[in-house]
Amino acid sequence: MRKTVRFAEEMRFRLPPFAFWTAEDWRDKGEEYDELRQNLLGWDITDFGSGDFYKIGLLMFTIRNGNFDNPKYIKPYAEKLLIVEEGQITPYHFHYKKMEDIINRGGGDLMVQVYNSDMDERFAGTPVMVSSDGRNYTVDAGAVVRVTPGESITLPCGMYHKFWGEGGKVLVGEVSKVNDDRVDNRFYEPVGRFPAIDEDEAPLYLLSMDYKEF
Ligand SMILES: [Fe+2]
Repeated sequence: MRKTVRFAEEMRFRLPPFAFWTAEDWRDKGEEYDELRQNLLGWDITDFGSGDFYKIGLLMFTIRNGNFDNPKYIKPYAEKLLIVEEGQITPYHFHYKKMEDIINRGGGDLMVQVYNSDMDERFAGTPVMVSSDGRNYTVDAGAVVRVTPGESITLPCGMYHKFWGEGGKVLVGEVSKVNDDRVDNRFYEPVGRFPAIDEDEAPLYLLSMDYKEF
């Protein structure tokens, strides 16, 4: 989290105020802030159960989001910041409901490997339609698409994607339909999306999965 705050500053990307609330601050926030809690905005860190965050892991910050289940929240869209380290893998997954644009907002290159999925949610051998900043073209199954700073790639539902940074840490933006990582992710290989945490230090900022507990 500390590194991300520094990196965001370096990249001139401003995080919203709730990014910097302490556990104490959260306690003072009444129901007018329920949207943050109920739509799980804020910090999210996972090692996908790998035990090696820098090899297989991802830091996310959800800036805005709707809600699959609660009609009180009418936003049909979400926005996230993802910090992708050089060589740090987010393993193959697709989304059932969330279509997303993954945007390289600066830093190194983002490498995105893509497959279509078949009826059994396996890799399909079929060519993959890539949509990137108004360019629509086809690549072979399993091709790696290089997304350089300023570029983006659109990932429709059911398209498997895996990504990592090359040539440096990448500030990645995600603009998508509503996000719910609890139910909408199909990982190619089973992973632990919400890792267990050894509570050996007071939280700097809360993770969105901590709101209930705190
Ligand atoms: Fe995704």
